[in-house]
Amino acid sequence: MTRNFLNLSDAGGNALAAMLNDAIDRKQARKTWPKGKVDADAPLSDHVLAMIFEKSSTRTRVSFDMAIRQLGGTSIVMDSGSMQLGRGETVDDTAKVLSRMCDAIMIRTDDHSKIEELAANSSVPVINGLTDLSHPCQIVADLLTLIEHGKALPGLEVAWLGDGNNVLNSIVEAAGLMKFNVRIACPEGYDPDQNFIVAAQAAGANVTLYRDTMEAAAGADVIVADTWVSMGQDHADAKIEAMMPFQVNDVIMEQAKSDAVFLHCLPAHRGEEVMPSVIDGPQSLVWDEAENRIHAQKSVLLWAFGHI
Ligand code: CP
Ligand code: NVA
Repeated sequence: MTRNFLNLSDAGGNALAAMLNDAIDRKQARKTWPKGKVDADAPLSDHVLAMIFEKSSTRTRVSFDMAIRQLGGTSIVMDSGSMQLGRGETVDDTAKVLSRMCDAIMIRTDDHSKIEELAANSSVPVINGLTDLSHPCQIVADLLTLIEHGKALPGLEVAWLGDGNNVLNSIVEAAGLMKFNVRIACPEGYDPDQNFIVAAQAAGANVTLYRDTMEAAAGADVIVADTWVSMGQDHADAKIEAMMPFQVNDVIMEQAKSDAVFLHCLPAHRGEEVMPSVIDGPQSLVWDEAENRIHAQKSVLLWAFGHI
């Protein structure tokens, strides 16, 4: 059966743990190598990954391109505006054509239903490079970063401040799979997707919604922030105003554990969701987190092709 990676639960907790272990091993094995050198076993040699971007991207674009290269394969990167998809060709037809020509498809799009439709009509693996609903590849990199920095996932207290968005939905999903807890502080009207919360709670994770940032941050092991205005949303004054009390600053970091770390998927808006003293400060892991997109994407690709 074709392995699609539309959300983290498509892989499940055991596979996710195996993916994280594989990423750690592969990263270690090529520590001193040039970034374009192919891994010794070249597990995806001769494989071609098609990438479709309906939204902007720096990290997802480059990390998937580097990931498939390091695994021995190649990629074709397309912006939907330069494809017939952007002129009205259907998602179904695009899926069928790309399935005949390429070995896997990664897409960044808006409505999650589009990636579901793409996957339903594709005979090769489809990978979610971000939708309005979720960003599972980002969270593989985030978990990898935490593990590398000595944070065991089970029981970890992860605090999210800000908008209840796609990145948060995938963090909540991961909590259920890897048994950590999420403390969410977001303004009323900006809560994350309820389905992810219910599933994570059913799997035994504590997922708690707060309206008060200090309560959410108290004793946390990890503080996470993301942009207040995701791609495709209006930079509305009312939303910025509602978000302002949810900014991650030094007071918030002091409320967390003394060895707490800060994560942000980037791009960041200093002075909005996070202050420069935090994102550019000693507790921030954002550059490791960004680099880990490559190592995470490799493990996602290897899982999709049945190597993990
Ligand atoms: N974090 C992330 O997905 O970055 P890009 O939007 O640059 O791909
Ligand atoms: N929540 C952000 C993540 C960007 C990587 C967005 O969807 O724009």
